[in-house]
Amino acid sequence: MQTFKELQSLYLGYLNTEIITKSPLGLYEPVNYIMNLGGKRIRPVLALMSYNLFQEDIEKALPLAHAIEMFHNFSLVHDDIMDEAELRRGKPSVHHKYDINTGILSGDVMMIKTYEYLASLKSERTLDIISTFNRVARKVCEGQQMDMDFETRNDVEISEYLTMIEYKTAVLLAGALKMGAILGNASSDQCDLLWEYGINIGLAFQLQDDILDVYGDPETFGKKIGGDIVQNKKTFLMLSLVASMKYDDNQIFSTTATLNAEDKISKVKALYNKYGIKDLAEAKMNTYYQNAQAALKKLNLDSHKNKREIEMLAGKLMNRVS
Ligand code: IPE
Ligand code: IPE
Ligand code: MG
Ligand code: MG
Ligand code: MG
Repeated sequence: MQTFKELQSLYLGYLNTEIITKSPLGLYEPVNYIMNLGGKRIRPVLALMSYNLFQEDIEKALPLAHAIEMFHNFSLVHDDIMDEAELRRGKPSVHHKYDINTGILSGDVMMIKTYEYLASLKSERTLDIISTFNRVARKVCEGQQMDMDFETRNDVEISEYLTMIEYKTAVLLAGALKMGAILGNASSDQCDLLWEYGINIGLAFQLQDDILDVYGDPETFGKKIGGDIVQNKKTFLMLSLVASMKYDDNQIFSTTATLNAEDKISKVKALYNKYGIKDLAEAKMNTYYQNAQAALKKLNLDSHKNKREIEMLAGKLMNRVS
């Protein structure tokens, strides 16, 4: 049985063979930089694991895994520009290390390389995979736009937030599983259940990301703690706080808008603590974890050798530190 770690190192070996040595360096060096900066490699492993539920020749799925990781990293390069984030995986973000124009264009070429890897797949179902990818990638853009629009809105509903994180994050995890399954020639019911599993682990994953943005350990998290608070992100924590606060605290909260970053983070965090917001977010995350396990049950993997590995995956993602 291929474990998460084994699939991760298989992918890392492939990644090593795909370093770009072409010129101009100004375009490709930042691509190599972000692709080799570390990261958990969750999406490529999801694609490989899903493929491996149906087929043994895992190497065949490596270009798919790489296409998905390339797209993910492209989205991070542009996301860090949009979120004004200086730190990524504990190192300078691309636009911070180089400049914004570099972040834009190196990101663009990563998107194009994503399609080159997808188009290189040797399968009768390549077009099906590409059209699944297109739906996913468009949703990611829609989710990112919603996330940006919400920064300046004060009437965001939890339901809107959930749609936003489904699009910006969950669909790519779900898509990795689904595309792996399509390439593995799974039935459409199996593909749909893996998608459902992925959406639920993706929602839980983004809730955990929101929690770690406030409560993560700066040593391991790799991003600047409190970034979401500074950027006025409408995270689950923020929306829950606004829904819970009593009058005096509303007053205190409204004064945080004009504070410097450090004071704003500490004041908002104190309010989160006072209203038990972290527990609320964790409870919400756990409901999606349960939904994910329920979707997996419907897949009927009982006698499958990879059943345990894919079941444990959701738990791993919930208990992460980075
Ligand atoms: C970061 O994704 C972006 C989100 C959707 C929260 P990851 O947490 O998977 O980032 P890396 O690739 O492991 O750095
Ligand atoms: C990222 O959401 C989603 C995408 C990159 C599409 P975040 O903005 O929360 O991700 P991080 O926290 O910067 O990794
Ligand atoms: Mg963002
Ligand atoms: Mg961000
Ligand atoms: Mg985040």
